[in-house]
Amino acid sequence: MRTDTGQVFRLEDYRPSDYLIPSTGLTFRLSPDETTVVAELTVERRNGVKGAPSLILDGDGLVLRRIEIDGKTLEPSAYQASADQLVIANPPASGRFKLLLETQIAPSKNEALMGLYRSNGVYCTQCEAEGFRRITYFLDRPDILSVYTVRVEARRDEAPLLLSNGNPIESGDLEDGWHYAVWHDPFPKPSYLFALVAGDLGRVGDSFVTASGRSVELGIYVEHGKERLATYAMDALKRSMRWDEEVFGCEYDLDVFNIVAVSDFNMGAMENKGLNIFNDKYVLADEETATDTDFANIEAIIAHEYFHNWTGNRITCRDWFQLCLKEGLTVFRDHEFSADQRSRAVKRIAEVRTLRAHQFPEDQGPLAHPVRPRRYREINNFYTATVYEKGSEVVRMIRTILGAKAFREGMDLYFERHDGDAATIEDFLKVFEDVSGQDLSQFALWYHQAGTPNVTVSGSHNAASGEFTLEIEQSVPPTPSESRKRLMHIPLAFGLVDPDGKDMAYADVEGADVADGVIHLRKRRHVVKFSGIAERPSVSLNRGFSAPITLSVAQSAEDRAFLARHDSDAFSRWQAFNTLLTETLITAFRSVLGGKAPDFSPELLKLAGTIATDETLEPAFRALALMLPGEADIAREIGNNIDPDALRAGREALTFAVAKTNREAFSALYASLNAARPFSPDAASAGKRALRNVLLDYLSALPGGVGLAGDHFAAATNMTDRAAALSVLAHRHRGSQQATDALASFEARYCKDALVMDKWFQIQASTPGAEAVDIVRSLMEHPAFSISNPNRVRSLIGTFASANQTGFHRADGAGYQLFVDTVLAVEKRNPQVAARLATALRSWRSLEPGRQAKAREALLTMSSTPNLSADLRDIIERTLA
Ligand code: PHE
Ligand code: ZN
Repeated sequence: MRTDTGQVFRLEDYRPSDYLIPSTGLTFRLSPDETTVVAELTVERRNGVKGAPSLILDGDGLVLRRIEIDGKTLEPSAYQASADQLVIANPPASGRFKLLLETQIAPSKNEALMGLYRSNGVYCTQCEAEGFRRITYFLDRPDILSVYTVRVEARRDEAPLLLSNGNPIESGDLEDGWHYAVWHDPFPKPSYLFALVAGDLGRVGDSFVTASGRSVELGIYVEHGKERLATYAMDALKRSMRWDEEVFGCEYDLDVFNIVAVSDFNMGAMENKGLNIFNDKYVLADEETATDTDFANIEAIIAHEYFHNWTGNRITCRDWFQLCLKEGLTVFRDHEFSADQRSRAVKRIAEVRTLRAHQFPEDQGPLAHPVRPRRYREINNFYTATVYEKGSEVVRMIRTILGAKAFREGMDLYFERHDGDAATIEDFLKVFEDVSGQDLSQFALWYHQAGTPNVTVSGSHNAASGEFTLEIEQSVPPTPSESRKRLMHIPLAFGLVDPDGKDMAYADVEGADVADGVIHLRKRRHVVKFSGIAERPSVSLNRGFSAPITLSVAQSAEDRAFLARHDSDAFSRWQAFNTLLTETLITAFRSVLGGKAPDFSPELLKLAGTIATDETLEPAFRALALMLPGEADIAREIGNNIDPDALRAGREALTFAVAKTNREAFSALYASLNAARPFSPDAASAGKRALRNVLLDYLSALPGGVGLAGDHFAAATNMTDRAAALSVLAHRHRGSQQATDALASFEARYCKDALVMDKWFQIQASTPGAEAVDIVRSLMEHPAFSISNPNRVRSLIGTFASANQTGFHRADGAGYQLFVDTVLAVEKRNPQVAARLATALRSWRSLEPGRQAKAREALLTMSSTPNLSADLRDIIERTLA
C-alpha cells in the first residue's frame, strides 16, 4: 500500500512529457506469485525538446529484473530503480531508442485490485487511473498514447482463455502445458486503457454488423454455468452499438468486442479498448436473481462502457483534471440511451433523484470540488458524483442552450477535430462555440466553479396591465477554497400554466434573454416581465431539471398541487408533488422535535390517492411520485441540526396517514396490478411492479400489513417483488414471524449466490433504528460476507453508512465506532474502497451537536491512525477541514 506523500497535483502545472512511447510490446508469463512482465518500449524524445533530459518512469511496488537499451544491458550506474520510479539519467542523445524492462509481480497478493490481480482464479487487470505502473515502469499518464502488442503466456489448464485489447493475431502451444496468444491494438491508447484477462471462463457469443457493414465478433465471458445470465447484457450491448451509430454517428472500430465479468472489482466497470471488464453485478441477471433496478443498471453500464469507445478511448483526456471530459459526456450519452430505450420522463426523474442524493451533498459539503478540479492529492478520490453526474448535467445544459441540432454538429466536430487526441475541456467547449457562434465563457464556470447555485424566484401578476413579473436571483454558496463566486449562466426552462393546464402564450418579454421556453440567467438579478398575460398563471420552473440548481420559489401549496396535477412537463409535475411532500415532512420534523404529533393537510393526503389512481400517468411515474423523500433528502433541505430519529418519526407518520386516507383506493389498485407472467424486464412491466411495491410499502403500515407483506413475499415470482417484500418485513415488521421466516428462507435459497446475498445484506444493513449496529456487526461474521470483496463490503457496510440515517447516526456513536473499525480493516487491503466508504461522513456538520461531536471524534480517530493510505488520508483531512 502506498502511504501518503502529501504531494499535491495542480492543473496549472501540466507540462507535456519530454518523451513519448509510440509503441509498446508486452510479454506476460503468468503465474499467481511470480508473473514476469517484459516491456519493450519504443521511446522517442518529443519534437522540440532540447538535449537529452532524464527519462523518469512511474512505478508502484515494482521489482526490476532486467533493463536494456537498444539490446544492451544497462550499467547499474546508468539508472536508478526504486519500487515507485525508474530514472535513466542520460538516455541516448539520438532521442530514439528501444527500452526493455523486465519486472516481476505477484497477482495473487494484490488485494488493492489495481494493476494485475486475481479474482476467483482469473487473472485480470485494472489500470485506470494509475494501475499500469503496478505492472511495469511507464509514462503512466493519459497523454502518452501508444500502440500495444501484447503476448500472454499461461498454463493451458489454468488459463485456457487469453485476452487483451484489440484484435487477436496469433496463438499456439508452448512447452510443458503452456500456451500463448498475441493481441494487437492498432489504436494508440493511454496506459489506463490497457487490459489483460486470462483464466477459465464460459462464453456467450454473438455478432454485430456495423453501419458500414463491418462484422464484429462479440463475446461476454462469465463464470462457467452462468452464461445464461449474460443474455440480457448481450442484448443491451447490441442495442448500445446500434444506438450510438444512429444518434451520434459513432461506429465500432475493431474486429472483436469482449466483456469479462469478474467478482472482485473496485468500481462498476471499465472501458478498456475492446476488452471491457465488469463488476459481475452489472452483467449477470435473470428474473430469479436480479431486480428491475439491476436490469436497468446493467443496460446503462453496458452502454456507458461501450460509449467510451469514442468518448474516452478514441478521444481521451490530456490529464486527470479533465476526467469529466470522458465521464460527464459518457454519462450524458448513457442517460440519453436509457431515455430512448425506456420512458424519458421517468428516466429524467430517476436521474435527478440520484443527482440530489449523491452530488448535492458532495457539492454542499467539505468534499465539494469543481466538475473539473484544479488540484488533487489522490486521483482515485475524484471519481465522484460531481465529475460524473454533474458533469453530465453540464453537457445537457450545452444542448439546452444550443438546441439539439447545433449540439449534434458540435459533437460531430469534436469527433472529427480531436479523434486520436488527448483533449481538454477547453477543446470540448470550443467545438460548440465554433458551430454556434456563441460565447460560452460564462457558461464554462459550470466546469470551474464548485457549489450548487441557488435560484430564488417570486412572481406577481398585474391584472390591470396584463403583466406577469418574475423576480429571479441567483447565488452560489462558498465552497472549500472558493469563497467568492462568479455569476453563472443558468438556463432555466419554464412555463406559465393557465387554469386549464395549458402553457400560456405571451405577447412580449423583457429583462432576460428568453427563447424556446428557457430564461437565460446571466446576472445576479433579473426582473423578467411578460406582457399580454390576462390571467394569473401558475409558474412552472426548471422544467426537465434544465439546470442542476436548488430552487426556492415563493409559491402556494394550491399552486403546487395544481402543477402536480396539470403541468405539461412530466418532470415538473413530479417535482411539484415532491416539493409539497418535502415541505410537509420538514414541518412534521419540527413538530416531532417540539414533542407534538405531526398533522397533515387532508388535501395533500388525497392528492396522493389521485396521483396513484390516475390512469393517464405511467405506473412508473406514479410509483416515483408516491415514494416519500428519504430521511437524507429531508435532512439536505433542512441543512443543519439534524436528528435522524425525528426525521424518521415524521416520515413514518406521513406514510401511515397517506395509507390510511387512501386505503381502499390503494388496496384496489394493488390487487389490480397482480404480477404479470411471463416475466419481462421491459420498462413498462417494471413500472407496474414498482407501483405495486410502493403500494405494498404503504399498505404494510396499516393494521394487518404484516400479513400482506408476508403473502407478497411468499407469492413473489421474481426478485423485484421478493426483495421489496423482504425490505418491508425486515424494516417495518422486524421481529414478526413473517419477517424472521422470510429472512431465513431467502438466506437458505440464495446462500450460494453471492450477488443475491448482497441484497440480503443490504436489506438488513438498512434496518432503521438503534438495532442496526448489532445486526451489521453480527452479519460481518456471516459465511457469505468477506471483507476483501468490494461488493460485500459495499452491501453491508456501505449501505449501513450511507443509506441508514437512524442506524449509522445512532446518538451514542456506536454506529461510528463500527464504521471506523471497518474502514480501517478494509483499508489494509484496499485503500480505494476504504476511502470511498469514508465519504459517508461528509455531511457530519449538519447533524445536531451531540452526534456532530461523536462524528468528529470518529474522523479524528481515523486521521490519527499511523501509516494511512494516501486515499483515506485525503478524504478524512478534507472532511475535517
Ligand atoms: N472509467 C470507469 C467508468 O466510469 C470507472 C472506473 C474508474 C473503473 C477507475 C475502474 C477504475 O466507466
Ligand atoms: Zn465512465
